[in-house]
Amino acid sequence: MKEFAGKHLVLGLSGGVACYKSAELCRLLIKAGASGQIVMTEAAEQFITPVTMQALSGRTVYGSQWDTREPNNMPHINLSREADAILIAPCSADFAARLAQGRSDELLSLLCLARPAERVPLLLAPAMNREMWVHPATQRNFAQVAQDGATVLGVGTGEQACGETGDGRMLEPAELMEELSAFFAPKQLVGQHLLVTAGPTFEAIDPVRGITNLSSGKMGFAIARAAREAGAEVTLVAGPVHLPTPRGVRRINVQSAEQMLMAVEQSVDAATVFVATAAVADWRPALASEQKIKKDGSGEVPALAFVENPDILARVAQSPRARAGQLFCVGFAAESHDLLAHATAKRLRKQVPLLVGNIGPATFGQDDNALLLIDAEGHRELPHASKRVLAQQLVADIASRLRAAPAAPRRVGAQVLV
Ligand code: CTP
Repeated sequence: MKEFAGKHLVLGLSGGVACYKSAELCRLLIKAGASGQIVMTEAAEQFITPVTMQALSGRTVYGSQWDTREPNNMPHINLSREADAILIAPCSADFAARLAQGRSDELLSLLCLARPAERVPLLLAPAMNREMWVHPATQRNFAQVAQDGATVLGVGTGEQACGETGDGRMLEPAELMEELSAFFAPKQLVGQHLLVTAGPTFEAIDPVRGITNLSSGKMGFAIARAAREAGAEVTLVAGPVHLPTPRGVRRINVQSAEQMLMAVEQSVDAATVFVATAAVADWRPALASEQKIKKDGSGEVPALAFVENPDILARVAQSPRARAGQLFCVGFAAESHDLLAHATAKRLRKQVPLLVGNIGPATFGQDDNALLLIDAEGHRELPHASKRVLAQQLVADIASRLRAAPAAPRRVGAQVLV
């Protein structure tokens, strides 16, 4: 099932160079299963043609309130009532000023004003030169429009079409898709703070070599994203992976297990849920050489001695807040075989109320997975799906557990921890 299946959006374009990004945004929306009605202002048509937007959306574009295609000649009423949301991207400084004043002398501002505000949300993706963006008039207008009920999305920072550099670029199409997903997601974790570990760790042998594993971090990043979309505050402690940070998530990059433990310890007091998806190296070289270990030509290989790394999850699960039920701990188990038996034993060993098992070699680096949720009552499968969907299902599962037992003593096996 596609993420936006069944959703119908009005995608409104006002005048700005960022209109070229709206073509890609429209394509992404359609690909994600949405239908999109494009409405363009006269200024927008200076930047991109309705022909392009019609081809991408598969619908004729509207640009005038006098359009006779609608039998009742009221496109502002008809188009706004059939939408699940109206997204203005790009939203120019002038268009924000028009919205703030409640102007309605062209179709796009007219349909924004005419929309039934309680059931058709309005989202704005500002796009303009940095001086225009910081101008008090613009800031005042966006603040007013937000007060009137619109959701004003952020802006990007960087090089602008005018050659200047600063705030005011429209968010990239993929970022806007993330914002839309977050907007539509049920807010099941409002008030919660999730601390998530993700990815592998890297244990140095010398400055150029080390020991790591095949974990890609994708599952942990997907959980961080889904939790933020569900309204939680999210801190993500990430081992060395090249994945973009989900929007709105605070990320702390680490290399080794010891650094991961330190980062977790610094953030865990604020957390209400700890999800340990990281594939933490069990051992590290006892001594990391400060200089690169060289071959001396004798054919002898260096002997490596190892020491055990701290078990981050086990430590957190033993903390007083976790034991008092104020911190809900979720462990992961990446196994190669006998998943149910190993994961059940691991849950008891780690003393966590919920352990999520998966077959490591089958999922490392992949975009999909299958999960086995194990708790004191038994187990349940989350069948094969994308990591994005599984993360949303797991977040929903965690949310229902939190609702069922807010800050209650928790049961691990037959033992009750208080
Ligand atoms: N974990 C951790 N710190 C460690 C090792 C593991 O926090 N030093 C966490 C992982 O993030 C995961 C869970 O513990 O949530 C289980 O990790 P896994 O590597 O599957 O288990 P191990 O305890 O290492 O056991 P084994 O390697 O014997 O399967």
